Amino acid sequence: MSAPIDLRLLPATAAVSSDGRLSIGGCDLGELAARFGTPLFVYDETHLRARCKEYVAAFGTDSVAYAGKAFLCRAMVRLVAEEGLHLDVATGGELHVALAAGFPPARIVFHGNNKSDEELSTALAAGVGRIVADSFAELDRLEALVKTGQPIPRVMLRVTPGVEAHTHEYIETGTEDSKFGFPVRPGDAVEAARRVAASPHLELAGLHCHIGSQIHVLQSYAAATAIVVGLAAQIEEAAGPGAVKELNLGGGLGIAYHDGDEPPTVAEYATVLRRALDEALADAGLAHRPALLVEPGRSIAATAGVTLYRVGTIKEIAGVRTYVAVDGGMSDNARPATYGARYEAFLPERATAERPLIATVAGKHCEQGDLLVRNATLPADVAVGDLLCTPATGAYGYAMASNYNKVPRPAVVFVGGGMARPVVRRETFDDLLRLEEE
Ligand SMILES: Cc1ncc(COP(=O)(O)O)c(C=O)c1O
Repeated sequence: MSAPIDLRLLPATAAVSSDGRLSIGGCDLGELAARFGTPLFVYDETHLRARCKEYVAAFGTDSVAYAGKAFLCRAMVRLVAEEGLHLDVATGGELHVALAAGFPPARIVFHGNNKSDEELSTALAAGVGRIVADSFAELDRLEALVKTGQPIPRVMLRVTPGVEAHTHEYIETGTEDSKFGFPVRPGDAVEAARRVAASPHLELAGLHCHIGSQIHVLQSYAAATAIVVGLAAQIEEAAGPGAVKELNLGGGLGIAYHDGDEPPTVAEYATVLRRALDEALADAGLAHRPALLVEPGRSIAATAGVTLYRVGTIKEIAGVRTYVAVDGGMSDNARPATYGARYEAFLPERATAERPLIATVAGKHCEQGDLLVRNATLPADVAVGDLLCTPATGAYGYAMASNYNKVPRPAVVFVGGGMARPVVRRETFDDLLRLEEE
């Protein structure tokens, strides 16, 4: 493939000038790199808001929670609040960021397979709207906290329907062999629901399942929906009609990471889920229609963000491979090294250039596996000092960033209307010493 970068991989406001320079939100990427340094995460605020709106239009108000694990900072929390979404947090740390940004607690959904007493206590005291309980031990903890005077929580039970999501095993979570949730098959899920429904210290809100991430095969959702609705019918036989008020079918919709990817649209996803719900309700004979909720992360944040790097060295091994090394790597994008995720790369100051050179974009970490893009296609004259961009890094990029090799984490800027606003500052070398006691 030697074609210029496919603009469909880029944020909504991406535009190429007559001299081939890429801008996002009206900001020239070369100028952003000069102003804020590299590596740099750039988010298109218009794109983020448009994806939130698309979800609300497809599923309805109060039916969509943004999964903060994809990318979270206070600016993102505020944006999600302004767009009227709910917010899914997976740890006490994410909850802290959400509350610090003033997110309405009643619209927070609290996840986690091993929430501590402290995390649960903070969530109950703050008035978090839904706790997604993951185990019998967690139900014990919640009941104990209520007995000490904490408010009664609305509990969703996370269940694992035993469905293959056709994605990478590290991000496939709905199969029986999973660390998450109550398995449906041996009866744990029904037992947990009976227990919650009968407890004076807990309120049963409904069921939750999340079968995995980066899903392109919508049929996997339909299969999970059928199982979860069947389970809801069983639960209502035991706990009474109307006991399961809500079904949260998780997130997971896939996005395009490289040329040729054709993920389903949000509207198609909503249509499949609704149809699957209708059919499953009819089959299961459930008299009422539980509210349908979803919690997308990647499909809101991924394409909105790109990462900018500066090329530092180019190593050509005759007859073997060319390595183009940049000033970031696995500490700002762990996905390629963790699960072989594939990305594209291009030069945003020559965005319309043909890309005939096959080269591997390497990071700067002390690991041979620190390769950001294997077999990238780049302009033949790529040179030291060039700016290089990887699209679709807005989800699980900064969120999974680390200080491996004591590399400071990049800055994050939001762009729109020709303005750039820094929302997370770049770490300094002094930040690397901040936590040391001596
Ligand atoms: C419980 C839960 N909900 C939602 C999500 C968001 O998934 P995605 O970012 O693929 O939409 C995840 C991701 O791992 C998750 O674990």
